Amino acid sequence: MDLGLKDKVVLITGGSKGIGLACARAFAIEGAKVAIVSRDPANLARAYEELRQEGLHVHRTRADLHEPHSAADIVEEVTTAVGPIDVLINSAGAARRYDPEALDADAFRATMEAKYFPYIYPQQEVLRRMAERIKTGESTEPGTIVNIIGMGGKIASDIHIAGGAANAALMLATVGLAHYYARYGIRINAINPGSTLTERVEEAVKLEASRQGIDSADALARGQAKVPLGRYAKPEEIADVALFLASRRASYVTGAIVPMDGGSTPLI
Ligand SMILES: NC(=O)c1ccc[n+]([C@@H]2O[C@H](COP(=O)([O-])OP(=O)(O)OC[C@H]3O[C@@H](n4cnc5c(N)ncnc54)[C@H](OP(=O)(O)O)[C@@H]3O)[C@@H](O)[C@H]2O)c1
Repeated sequence: MDLGLKDKVVLITGGSKGIGLACARAFAIEGAKVAIVSRDPANLARAYEELRQEGLHVHRTRADLHEPHSAADIVEEVTTAVGPIDVLINSAGAARRYDPEALDADAFRATMEAKYFPYIYPQQEVLRRMAERIKTGESTEPGTIVNIIGMGGKIASDIHIAGGAANAALMLATVGLAHYYARYGIRINAINPGSTLTERVEEAVKLEASRQGIDSADALARGQAKVPLGRYAKPEEIADVALFLASRRASYVTGAIVPMDGGSTPLI
């Protein structure tokens, strides 16, 4: 299936690890021009080298996307170095989990800064430029955005209330902006992963293991056994759906939120 992604400029926030890195690999294999962003130069260098050894090239940029002006800077840098952005994949998030009784207003604010704004800042900057290119006739091919959000925005969990609230807000922003920007042909969709085998989940598994007084392998097996499909997702499975949503094969899909939790949440 030709996804039509060859030579498309794809900016992937959080592209140095986990789901974002899997997306970087998947888009690069399709022949897209990929730029990855994250905070830690060591993570960026590791991802760059890993992909280079697979024969893939990405542009890398360091930024902390919780800073309001960082998005404008990286979008400008990537536009100059690689080209105007056709696809934005938002996957830079790091919401902490809190005991509900430790949840004060500062924890809610910190969580919005860790998960909500690092998606909103690049999205708004990229949308502004995508719409401008269509309005001025500079391009006739509208861009597209895929937000990697999380099932925690649909189902409240005691230890993920602040992160879940950020996810719920991101879902609302996704469908609302998709509704508005459809007039320019710009499509915005989201994926809601359930537990996916990245470092983030490894940490959550360790925490669960110490809570239950078991080892990590047992905690992982117990967690996976609760999933109807019998296992957690692999990052590359999330990346495959992001590829499809960003491709011309999904040209009439916008405002969709795709659950990828192995059937855990029977919710319409
Ligand atoms: N894995 C799961 O089970 C799961 C489930 C549901 C939803 N999600 C969501 O999916 C997204 C990706 O998760 P993941 O598991 O792939 O996480 P991960 O392995 O921890 O990767 C997160 C990536 O984001 C970057 N990052 C974090 N905060 C950033 C910031 N403020 N500015 C720039 N870069 C930042 C990290 O690199 P640096 O540390 O170098 O900045 C890293 O590249 C997250 O939003 C997460 O909430 C994940």
